[in-house]
Amino acid sequence: MKYDLNGQIVVITGAARGIGFAIAEAFAKADATVIIIDIAAEMVEKAVTSLKAISEKVFGYAGNVVDSLGIEALFAAIAAQHGRIDCLINNAGITRDNLLLRMKEEEWSLVLDINLKGSFICTQKAFKHMMKTRKGSIINIASVIGLMGNAGQANYAASKGGLIAFTKSCAKEFASRNIRVNAVAPGFIETEMTATLSPEIRAEYAKVIPLQKMGNPADVAKLCLFLASDESAYITGQTVAVDGGLTMH
Ligand code: NAI
Repeated sequence: MKYDLNGQIVVITGAARGIGFAIAEAFAKADATVIIIDIAAEMVEKAVTSLKAISEKVFGYAGNVVDSLGIEALFAAIAAQHGRIDCLINNAGITRDNLLLRMKEEEWSLVLDINLKGSFICTQKAFKHMMKTRKGSIINIASVIGLMGNAGQANYAASKGGLIAFTKSCAKEFASRNIRVNAVAPGFIETEMTATLSPEIRAEYAKVIPLQKMGNPADVAKLCLFLASDESAYITGQTVAVDGGLTMH
């Protein structure tokens, strides 16, 4: 399906590479105005340059999702320049895997901070602008790990499980303002985050995935297009898995 999101102002965090970049690419192809935020200025510049080949309406800023004041200023500048914010995609996320007994408090805190608190900060700052237009779609990139847990990823699972609960609360709180909030739970997707997995682990995963393969960032991006568009106007508070059937909830 081809989406026409011309006129939509879409902000995507952690979009300089991986799933976020694929989402930015899909929205650029759908003619939306795409604003990339990522922590490293150099990566942002590279991503924007590459996406400009698709659309002139791609902009990028270096920003850290846990920098509350910085994000507030950035979103205010985006709203001032483009008139509003229609869609926020909270995609920035990290892993710091360790078995629980060995997990350092810093590993716990960093993952919870970036994955969960970062989404809270960006949502709160974007909501202020969306309230004015009484329309918006917020998409939180969670994970199947937030639904089913994983040994060695207690911090990551807690952050993504928290993000799913956060999604439901925001969906209830924002519904009267016509702002929808949904979560996407990717399964095992081929990106730099999962590139470190050994061939043995990949083969193990493929065995338990009904569609018997890892997914692509573009698979996640397609769902984001749907959730940002009016085609999903009556859908809020949901967590949709893009996981080849791994979780069936
Ligand atoms: P990635 O590591 O390739 O990309 C994450 C991006 O977030 C990077 O560009 C990084 O610079 C940025 N980032 C990290 N901390 C940031 C911060 N504090 N502020 C701003 N930007 C920051 O990861 P990938 O695989 O593309 O994952 C994207 C999202 O999808 C994450 O939330 C991840 O948890 C989730 N996910 C990924 C899966 C996978 O199989 N790759 C599966 C399920 C969920």
